Amino acid sequence: MNMERKAKPMGPVPQGYAADATGMLLIGGERADALVERAGDTPLFVYDTALISARIADLRAALPDTVDIHYAIKANSHPTLLRFMAGQVGGFDIASGGELALAQASGMAADAISFAGPGKRDDELTAAIRAGVTLNLESERECARAIDIADAMGVRARLAVRVNPDFDLKGSGMRMGGGAKAFGVDAVRVPALIRQIIDAGAVWQGLHIFAGSQALDAASIAETQASTLALADQIADAVGTAPPLVNIGGGLGVPYFPGDAPVDIAHVGSELARSLSQSALAQNGATHFAMELGRYLVAEAGVYLTRIVDVKQSHGEDFAIVDGGLHHQLAASGNFGTVIRRNYPICIANHFDAPATHIVHVAGCLCTPLDKLGDAVLLPEASVGDLVAIFMAGAYGASASPAAFLGHPAARELILQA
Ligand SMILES: Cc1ncc(COP(=O)(O)O)c(C=O)c1O
Repeated sequence: MNMERKAKPMGPVPQGYAADATGMLLIGGERADALVERAGDTPLFVYDTALISARIADLRAALPDTVDIHYAIKANSHPTLLRFMAGQVGGFDIASGGELALAQASGMAADAISFAGPGKRDDELTAAIRAGVTLNLESERECARAIDIADAMGVRARLAVRVNPDFDLKGSGMRMGGGAKAFGVDAVRVPALIRQIIDAGAVWQGLHIFAGSQALDAASIAETQASTLALADQIADAVGTAPPLVNIGGGLGVPYFPGDAPVDIAHVGSELARSLSQSALAQNGATHFAMELGRYLVAEAGVYLTRIVDVKQSHGEDFAIVDGGLHHQLAASGNFGTVIRRNYPICIANHFDAPATHIVHVAGCLCTPLDKLGDAVLLPEASVGDLVAIFMAGAYGASASPAAFLGHPAARELILQA
């Protein structure tokens, strides 16, 4: 049934994907159906490390040489992917004791791992201090607890302060600074806390200033980075000591939805170079700088493949029911941090370049109306057995979905490495 007038748009298919002569989607140069066969079945996440390397190389080329790239492993913490990422970036940011164990197993050096996140338990603080990982402190009380734990162990904790800045990242999908927040210590109280850290004999590692996430507008990102560097200068002035590291946050977004355009990283890089030229800390040379990025590094390198198990009609509308769903790919269903549900880029993998002629709802296999992976999307005609591919699945897919809900099996995951 063709009802083109009611089709809802979808986000742009990311670069790096094409079809072979039979119309089958290729991921990392391999046919999607062959990848499913290799993995054993659908549903399946495939991550192409070549796309990640290329992404990181482009970013490094755009950023000033003095700014390192750290990976926030919450975006995708698959152990094999983390081992790969450990060789690609200068550090990992973790957010729990579980992620600490994953980061340690990846081969990333302990002194290049930092642990942010509110509500760290004593056992998590203990494990992090024992491992020699930097704690990005979220409060004065957390600082006191960390120092007590380290004293009891007879070691010096490596402590940085997460700053709650007075500004946020404009246009970001998730604002992490500006006003009352559960994250970090209000900027005005940070110098006093740093003095306490130094006086207690702990190792002061620097500042963590993370103002927001999923921003696509380069000018807003640049403006926030300029404010971040100015704030770091102010804090260092008040303390009288240069921080060893200023983690300036990240926030680079990716185009998930119709109308989204990629971040202009050349602009971000040139503006950051300009801001660094005005930063006393950068000019002084004693401070390292890093950006902390999750989705920007990995989102576009992942594809979620799921198979159509039923096609049906209801009130004249077509439904393709797949064997995957929001229990693996919550974000694509619109239930992970988005206000209005919009369509991720989606295709029939075995008809990747066929003309899109049919409007279909792609529903997951969970018995909830929330489980919609494609809402009235325009696709080639869908049949039972076809493979549906949902793009932008490399970040916040398997690591951010309620896998236990309704008792379906976990998705398989395949990491393609050269
Ligand atoms: C402290 C911190 N670091 C990193 C990230 C990763 O953000 P993104 O995946 O958008 O780069 C987040 C996301 O919320 C965060 O809170």
